[in-house]
Amino acid sequence: MKLPQLQIGNILPKFPIVQGGMALRVSTAPLASAVANAGGIGVLGATGMSEEELREEIRKTRRLTSGPLGVNIMFAIKNFPKMVYTAIEEKIDVIFTGAGFSRDIFHWSKESGVPVVSIVSSTKLAVLAEKLGASAVVVEGVEAGGHLGTDKPLTEILPSIRKAINIPLIAAGGIIDGKGIAKMLQLGADGVQMATRFVLSKECDVSDSFKQMYLKAKPEDVVIIPSPVGLPGRALHNPFASKIIQGEKITPENCDNCLKKCSKQYCIMKALDNSCIGNVNEGIVFAGKNVHKIKDILPVQEIFNRLIREAKEN
Ligand SMILES: Cc1cc2nc3c(=O)[nH]c(=O)nc-3n(C[C@H](O)[C@H](O)[C@H](O)COP(=O)(O)O)c2cc1C
Repeated sequence: MKLPQLQIGNILPKFPIVQGGMALRVSTAPLASAVANAGGIGVLGATGMSEEELREEIRKTRRLTSGPLGVNIMFAIKNFPKMVYTAIEEKIDVIFTGAGFSRDIFHWSKESGVPVVSIVSSTKLAVLAEKLGASAVVVEGVEAGGHLGTDKPLTEILPSIRKAINIPLIAAGGIIDGKGIAKMLQLGADGVQMATRFVLSKECDVSDSFKQMYLKAKPEDVVIIPSPVGLPGRALHNPFASKIIQGEKITPENCDNCLKKCSKQYCIMKALDNSCIGNVNEGIVFAGKNVHKIKDILPVQEIFNRLIREAKEN
């Protein structure tokens, strides 16, 4: 099929592919710049960074690419407004926001001219996002990695949301190849957001043990875990996941109250950071449902070549 032109505000990426933002330091400058250079929209996962770290990461990414660059900032974090201001000050091209819904961000977007994309999983929130001024929505189905806002498959929620809104719709959750992209475009999406596929890229900065867990994953290893944020999350099974699924409380050594609301069952920032730096058994390894279908670690450019070829063939 012919690939459509995705437009978010004034951003016109060569291909309608967004790399999903991934906390904690899973999507950083090397991955986001490689995606932007390959023709997609590269996205930094800002959650878990300080404002200064985010500022530095944006500057670092800009030195590596002149392509479209976004940040993903979770609404659930306390320093959400400051992170948004920092991204705006650094002249980011687009802000993606999920894990809760911010109304304020649309005022900041209007003042600054920086487009905002809301990550939603229901028609209600998609319609609200459009009404408040979102430039596009990411519609995330239950297949997605990370925090989940629905228990419904993407193919079930996408058609009704498509009918309800006129702004661009970006489909996310479980898309790992060009066939999956073509399917979403045929269902009315203007583009796709993919995260898990890009973890298994040469450029993704995450520890090798994180990538090896992805490569070894079987379908039954992908589980739903509770998150202190108050949403379920999709991750790979490991000793840490076992403990938290059983309801064990893992009190962190210190807590800087980084979330607006936190169940305090365990520290999600510490757990995500542990796996990112290689201590996978003591951490959470977020992954999408179709992780087991990905068999190789490739350079981002090669992933794009394949995705585009396969999508055009379908
Ligand atoms: C390791 C990992 C970390 C993630 N972190 C975030 C995040 O910080 N904010 C967010 O909105 N989504 C996050 N997500 C969700 C992705 O951005 C994306 O929408 C989703 O994973 C798409 O499904 P896929 O991974 O099957 O492609 C994360 C996903 C993964 C796999």
